[in-house]
Amino acid sequence: MFTLLVFPFFFLNFTIANVTASSMLPLCHDDERSALLQFKESRISGDFYAWKFDCRPTMASWKPEEGSVDCCSWDGVHCNKNTGHVIKLDLSHSCLFGSIDSSSSLFKLVHLEWLNLALNDFNSSEIPPEIINLSRLSYLNLSGTSLSGQIPSEILKLSNLVSLDLSLNDVPGGRLELQKPSFVKLVEKLSNLKTLDLGDVCIQSTIPHNIINLSSLTFVSLRNCELQDVLLTSWKNLEHLSLSSNRLSVLTKATSNTTSKKHQYIKLRSCNLTKFPNFLESQHHLVVLDLSDNRIRGKVPKWLLDPNMQNLIGLNLSHNLLTGFDQHPVFLPGNKGGLVTFDLSSNNLQGPLPVPPPGTINYLASNNSLTGEIPSWICNLNFLKSLILSHNNLSGLLPQCLSNFSDELSVLDLRGNNFFGTIPNTFLKESRLSVIDLSHNLFQGRIPRSLINCSKLEFLGLGNNQISDTFPSWLGTLPNLNVLILRSNIFYGIIEEPRTDCGFSKLRIIDLSNNRFTGTLPSKSFLCWNAMKIVNTSELRYLQDVLFPYGQVSNNVVSTYDYSMTMNSKGRMMTYKKIPDILAGIILSNNRFDGAIPASIANLKGLQVLNLHNNNLQDHNPSCLGNLTNLESLDLSDNKISGRIPQQLVELTFLEFFNVSDNYLTGPIPQGKQFATFDNTSFDGNSGLCGRPLSKGCESDEAPTNEDHNEGSEESLFSSASDWKIILTGYAGGLVAGLVLGCNFSTGIIGWILEKLGTQQKATRRRRRRRN
Ligand SMILES: *[C@@H]1O[C@H](CO)[C@@H](O)[C@H](O)[C@H]1NC(C)=O
Ligand SMILES: *[C@@H]1O[C@H](CO)[C@@H](O)[C@H](O)[C@H]1NC(C)=O
Ligand SMILES: *[C@@H]1O[C@H](CO)[C@@H](O)[C@H](O)[C@H]1NC(C)=O
Ligand SMILES: *[C@@H]1O[C@H](CO)[C@@H](O)[C@H](O)[C@H]1NC(C)=O
Ligand SMILES: *[C@@H]1O[C@H](CO)[C@@H](O)[C@H](O)[C@H]1NC(C)=O
Ligand SMILES: *[C@@H]1O[C@H](CO)[C@@H](O)[C@H](O)[C@H]1NC(C)=O
Ligand SMILES: *[C@@H]1O[C@H](CO)[C@@H](O)[C@H](O)[C@H]1NC(C)=O
Ligand SMILES: *[C@@H]1O[C@H](CO)[C@@H](O)[C@H](O)[C@H]1NC(C)=O
Ligand SMILES: *[C@@H]1O[C@H](CO)[C@@H](O)[C@H](O)[C@H]1NC(C)=O
Ligand SMILES: *[C@@H]1O[C@H](CO)[C@@H](O)[C@H](O)[C@H]1NC(C)=O
Ligand SMILES: *[C@@H]1O[C@H](CO)[C@@H](O)[C@H](O)[C@H]1NC(C)=O
Ligand SMILES: *[C@@H]1O[C@H](CO)[C@@H](O)[C@H](O)[C@H]1NC(C)=O
Repeated sequence: MFTLLVFPFFFLNFTIANVTASSMLPLCHDDERSALLQFKESRISGDFYAWKFDCRPTMASWKPEEGSVDCCSWDGVHCNKNTGHVIKLDLSHSCLFGSIDSSSSLFKLVHLEWLNLALNDFNSSEIPPEIINLSRLSYLNLSGTSLSGQIPSEILKLSNLVSLDLSLNDVPGGRLELQKPSFVKLVEKLSNLKTLDLGDVCIQSTIPHNIINLSSLTFVSLRNCELQDVLLTSWKNLEHLSLSSNRLSVLTKATSNTTSKKHQYIKLRSCNLTKFPNFLESQHHLVVLDLSDNRIRGKVPKWLLDPNMQNLIGLNLSHNLLTGFDQHPVFLPGNKGGLVTFDLSSNNLQGPLPVPPPGTINYLASNNSLTGEIPSWICNLNFLKSLILSHNNLSGLLPQCLSNFSDELSVLDLRGNNFFGTIPNTFLKESRLSVIDLSHNLFQGRIPRSLINCSKLEFLGLGNNQISDTFPSWLGTLPNLNVLILRSNIFYGIIEEPRTDCGFSKLRIIDLSNNRFTGTLPSKSFLCWNAMKIVNTSELRYLQDVLFPYGQVSNNVVSTYDYSMTMNSKGRMMTYKKIPDILAGIILSNNRFDGAIPASIANLKGLQVLNLHNNNLQDHNPSCLGNLTNLESLDLSDNKISGRIPQQLVELTFLEFFNVSDNYLTGPIPQGKQFATFDNTSFDGNSGLCGRPLSKGCESDEAPTNEDHNEGSEESLFSSASDWKIILTGYAGGLVAGLVLGCNFSTGIIGWILEKLGTQQKATRRRRRRRN
């Protein structure tokens, strides 16, 4: 009874007290409010920028009006509860653009203790010496802000700094430099640092000896700082050390005392190393070791494979000149319970596949000279997420367990080996496989029917094997299948039309070339392939998988597996190291298809590549192709197509490659626009064709109609219009596209930043999507 009475009373009391307290909080100070508003006004921000960078316009909520005078409640602003002074400002990734100089009102916020301006664009400004006004800062983050020039010596006065991040400031317009003051001075004065990230800052010195005095330091990243030599005695109790992308051909070992044994994260990527650094020998606490992209030769030493390395979760030795291992058989180290990523790819490793511990989640050993079979111990790797052994000299039968040993397996890439026999047929319902690439091997038999269980499958590459089967219409039920490559096998028979349910609704790339398919083209299927009907203009994405990142500490640990393929397009085998998800292609060349090109193909408006070369198609004037306004490559050569070349094809303004040679076409060649860019090889072997570019003129009654040649030559300037299109849509979404289709495009400052950030953002988004 007592509690019943007291409780509501107590509660009421409490609430009142609370309300009074909050209404008594001091509002923000006028001078600080106007300083904030002034800072806002000096920036160009807003929609345009948000659209470009996918950033969050934090300052949009900052308004001078009555009703929002309490700047302490503004987005990103935090005040001291007692004094009302602004002590914390988080404007990271907030779409800020514009130079910053000594007059910036930011330096009036002298009570700031915490300032994050990361991932904005200060237009190559220098850090103004007025930074000295912010001497109370303990956290300063100016990462990725397009700052340049010497870091001012005034920064040395910020002696309260515990965390300093000046990384990612080397844009084409300049780079942050730390010479005057020197690195030694910085270390001397900022003695409270725990976290120091100077990645990409141009330092060009050795690591100063006095760094040993930074007794609290646990995280150091000095990647790409042009450091010349590193004396490793200096490091004590350091958990995270990244020295990637320096030129450390010499790594000096300790001469006074043995080095600390507590290193956990060591990143020496792209450091021009030629040997394994000796100091690693005693490092049994290693969590992540990245020695990738150096010039390390010879064998992997025994000590690196020490079973004592109980904490290891990531070992990257890729892109070196390693030939083998000091011991046999090779057991890779690692925490037996933990999850480990090994990347041994792109070396010259010979001999059998090294054995990783059972907790392995990513195993990459592609592009080596490994031999032998995939041993059955692989069946013990029950957590494996990706197995990437492409481009080796492995052979033998695949172990039967390979399709069912891990519920987690999402990437199985065995392309370019000598495996033979049938593909195991035990894919389970639980399968998470999104990529199966078994192309360029010697597999025989049929496509395993249990693949129907792989509902997550996006990419199936079985090209260049000896598989003998009919067209797998049953794969049409796989809801996510994007890419189907069956090229160069012994597939035969007709392509069965879907009876009731439409299938392959996500399919964007189908390559059935070099097989023995017969019958007519699947006109009803063309109505089903919904993904090819879409002209995708949204944000550019690539088809890829995020490999489990090892270590959450630094920003460059996420890596991706990019889906890749070759495809006969634009008259040659094109290699796509990455597949943009807007790409759509149908490759049916070198088969025995007959009949007409079905009009239903006109629905596939997103189609960019159509290759029907070398079949028995007998169409007469296939004008439906004029509807495929996104086509970049159209190959109808070596068929029995007759009649005129449809005038409508002149409207295909992205058409870069066109081949109708060796058919029975007659009449005048359409003129103008893209057609002005094709030479006679596009039209050869049609005795009835006339007009430019052929030397044979047309009779007056068959004179070509559309005669706008000037327009034509203008179009030809944009002969790779599609590449431009891709690049631009890439920007629209805030991702990089400079590398698409081998297009070497100077991306400028924005592109550069995006390139630096792109991978990370994509990964984050992908993860977010997975979680949802
Ligand atoms: C960016 O810098 C350039 C060159 O210093 C200058 O002309 C331009 O006004 C600056 N833009 C902004 C928005 O600060
Ligand atoms: C620096 O702080 C002082 C107050 O301590 C202030 O008067 C001055 O205007 C500030 N400088 C700038 C450039 O804002
Ligand atoms: C700096 O800010 C960026 C973006 O918010 C963040 O990724 C990075 O971890 C921060 N650096 C530090 C040292 O906190
Ligand atoms: C470390 O600091 C002490 C005292 O501040 C100083 O005497 C010593 O020289 C410093 N060590 C180095 C290597 O700079
Ligand atoms: C060498 O390091 C050990 C701990 O690793 C320490 O106990 C010892 O004092 C050091 N010796 C010298 C000479 O610094
Ligand atoms: C790498 O180191 C070698 C010496 O070992 C040197 O000749 C070469 O110039 C260095 N390369 C780079 C890019 O620094
Ligand atoms: C394959 O490895 C060699 C070195 O062994 C390297 O030069 C080449 O770039 C690698 N290829 C790929 C595709 O990574
Ligand atoms: C690959 O292995 C086969 C035997 O399986 C052998 O004949 C061939 O020489 C090897 N190729 C290379 C490049 O090692
Ligand atoms: C995987 O398939 C093999 C061969 O059919 C079978 O013996 C094994 O029990 C299967 N494993 C699992 C986990 O289903
Ligand atoms: C699909 O997987 C289940 C087990 O998850 C299995 O029983 C079934 O046979 C598989 N389907 C095919 C067609 O193999
Ligand atoms: C290993 O390093 C290479 C080159 O530095 C990098 O491209 C790759 O993504 C790294 N592997 C993993 C799994 O992170
Ligand atoms: C193809 O284009 C013609 C003429 O522009 C149009 O009438 C027809 O509806 C289009 N067909 C499809 C399937 O879009």
